[in-house]
Amino acid sequence: MSDRKKVTLLTLFKKVEDGVPITMLTCYDYPTAHFQEQAEVDMILVGDSLGMTMLGYDSTLPVTMNDMIRHTQAVRRGSPNAWLIGDMPYMSYQPSVETAIRSAGRFMAEASCDAIKLEGGAEIVPQIKGILAAGIPVMGHLGLTPQSVSALGGFRVQGKGAVQAKKIMDDAKALEEAGVFAILFEMIPDRLSTLITDRMETCFNISLGSGPDAHGQLLIYHDMFGLYPKFKPRMAKVYADAGKLITDGLKEYVDEVKNKTFPQPENWFGISDEEYDELMKLIKG
Ligand code: KIV
Repeated sequence: MSDRKKVTLLTLFKKVEDGVPITMLTCYDYPTAHFQEQAEVDMILVGDSLGMTMLGYDSTLPVTMNDMIRHTQAVRRGSPNAWLIGDMPYMSYQPSVETAIRSAGRFMAEASCDAIKLEGGAEIVPQIKGILAAGIPVMGHLGLTPQSVSALGGFRVQGKGAVQAKKIMDDAKALEEAGVFAILFEMIPDRLSTLITDRMETCFNISLGSGPDAHGQLLIYHDMFGLYPKFKPRMAKVYADAGKLITDGLKEYVDEVKNKTFPQPENWFGISDEEYDELMKLIKG
């Protein structure tokens, strides 16, 4: 049993104040959440990327609130102490402020989240204010926002041109003024991230592929361990090839069953001679 204390907003802002980088990872299931709890990851995001990493869709758009709630509940069971963020899926907040508050409320009431995350800039400030007014901490998400991948022209770096970079800075200011506690910047240039970090007053910056000058870093768990077969984003560091390890183990199992070297006596259970003899008598009648 770990004696780890629950991560709170106070813990996170203390790290920002002390210049200690915040760690954040995605997570979608109970065993992985358990491992992340042991590693003392500060913030866990149950991302709607689970549509791709866990459910095999080509984008995050088909993911539903019910999918998100089910996975988030499992993650909370595995990690009682991380600051847990539920990612609002496509169309769970865009249609109206009321829809947004109800969806955010489900993450808190049904999955014991600490906060929610949603994608978008100034256009979603009304939803952010509504959710905050319901007492729910909000994280923003700017730069590459996968729910708008079609409008953004694919999974590519955002803010490389000065005009688009200025728009991202303006959106960041709008979200900060609305009251978010943090903003995730996905795939924006490093110097744009630095400019934004330097200007932040009341919230903090988490970088996903946006350089080192942020208050914390996020990686997608499946990218870190070679667990997503379709592609590996350039920004992801692979810490171990668990995908290969698992595939090798599976092939070994198939071979061993075929050549009858599995199972071995330690893999099965016996019955005593006495009980076996008794059974034979019963069968014979
Ligand atoms: O869904 C997710 O995992 C995300 C990350 C890409 C930041 O939103």
